[in-house]
Amino acid sequence: MLSKIPLNIEKISLETVDREILRVALIAELDAVNLYEQMAALTKDEKIRRVLLDIAGEEKTHIGEFQTLLLMKDKEQEKELDKGREEVKKLTGV
Ligand SMILES: [Fe+2]
Repeated sequence: MLSKIPLNIEKISLETVDREILRVALIAELDAVNLYEQMAALTKDEKIRRVLLDIAGEEKTHIGEFQTLLLMKDKEQEKELDKGREEVKKLTGV
């Protein structure tokens, strides 16, 4: 696990706690995708590899679910995500 829920959770507003929970959940899902894809790359068993990659795909769906919730709770994040997308388009021409 790459991130931890804040230690002093009682000092944080409900809105902030929800955003932090969603960010931690996103980190956990991203971490899971890496783990399953790395294990899929390691195994010599085709059935295990297929199932691991299928699960990695499901984790990507979970990322979409948590991101959707986070963007509902954090309008600044939504705006900055759009800004980042535009910057990449400008830099790469894609
Ligand atoms: Fe998941």
